[in-house]
Amino acid sequence: MTFAAKANLWFAPEATDCLIHNLHPFIETHVQIMGVGRMQKFQTQQRETLTEEILMAPGFAQPFFDCTSDSIGGFLYPWHQYYADTDCMWLALELHPFAGSHD
Ligand SMILES: [Fe+2]
Repeated sequence: MTFAAKANLWFAPEATDCLIHNLHPFIETHVQIMGVGRMQKFQTQQRETLTEEILMAPGFAQPFFDCTSDSIGGFLYPWHQYYADTDCMWLALELHPFAGSHD
């Protein structure tokens, strides 16, 4: 499989839940730029099913979460979200598969 690397710079104000989700059309990881936040994992899309938090401090790169690829080119992750404890900036690094490169 071959990929195109893309980067998205995100900002969220203090005390923001940035949406619990589990599907992406790419493989992702995150690097904290400013402020303090958390990557959170959940059992379901409900906030009260929190199972894991990874503290994101400036300069920290989140380890890749395990994911599986689906039959239409997407990637299934554990339910997760970014949470901003303070005003935060972080970089989302995305690996997008080239069309037709799925095994
Ligand atoms: Fe995500």
